[in-house]
Amino acid sequence: MRQTCLLAAATLKMIGRHVQPGVSTQALNDLCDEFIRDHGAIPSPLNYKGFPRSICTSVNEVVCHGIPSARQVLREGDIVNVDVTTLLGGFHGDCSATFCVGQVSKEARHVVEVSRQCLALGIEQVRPGGHIGDIGAAIERHAHAEGCSVVRDFCGHGIGRQFHCAPEVPHFGRRGEGEEMFPNLTFTIEPMINLGRPETRILGDGWTAVTVDRKLSAQFEHTLLVTRSGVDVLTDPEKLRGTRHEALL
Ligand code: MF3
Ligand code: CO
Ligand code: CO
Repeated sequence: MRQTCLLAAATLKMIGRHVQPGVSTQALNDLCDEFIRDHGAIPSPLNYKGFPRSICTSVNEVVCHGIPSARQVLREGDIVNVDVTTLLGGFHGDCSATFCVGQVSKEARHVVEVSRQCLALGIEQVRPGGHIGDIGAAIERHAHAEGCSVVRDFCGHGIGRQFHCAPEVPHFGRRGEGEEMFPNLTFTIEPMINLGRPETRILGDGWTAVTVDRKLSAQFEHTLLVTRSGVDVLTDPEKLRGTRHEALL
């Protein structure tokens, strides 16, 4: 889990430098695919339940599961979530970040920063003996205080030898509710935060989830390990310092 998560983090860091006006989401896909395979891993999304690409790229009103396309070229003012999942040594590592393309509006910056903060606040709740509901409660409280809504149609998830497994990790809920966390449990937190209404709908491609009101949505994701005393953020890019992945970035 440590190795696959480090590679997922390295891939996300690498691709961040390519998110620029004029780049297509297909080009971002191809760079990630090559980087992941060069490191002896496989991109988990490719062919997962029929998903046709190696990463998800979710632009502006797309909440998640956007499909990279050569026809989709990023423009100044866009926000784009890049979601990377790697399969290395039989284990999946999953992380994502929302990038601003050039200068973006104040509203766009706001939803991006709130979603980043929501992930950080969720992570602060992770400890053995804590409950999964503690995470969603902290996220929901902050999002609402900042005038944003929390997507309820997609959740974080257990991860390991399987891409998605128990526990389900909602980004809303009540303190003390849900499963109890225990040492060595690995799961993701990946809050999708909207500027408008929380509802989503799936486009005709069967994957792309958009906000019903077509207002902006942003997301950040980490894979976490519950330790004996708290939490270890396995996809923390800070872990790349001094590793061999750093030289290859
Ligand atoms: N990486 C996404 C997640 O965070 C899942 C993508 S599934 C795919 O759970 F099929 F769309 F790739
Ligand atoms: Co995930
Ligand atoms: Co993901």
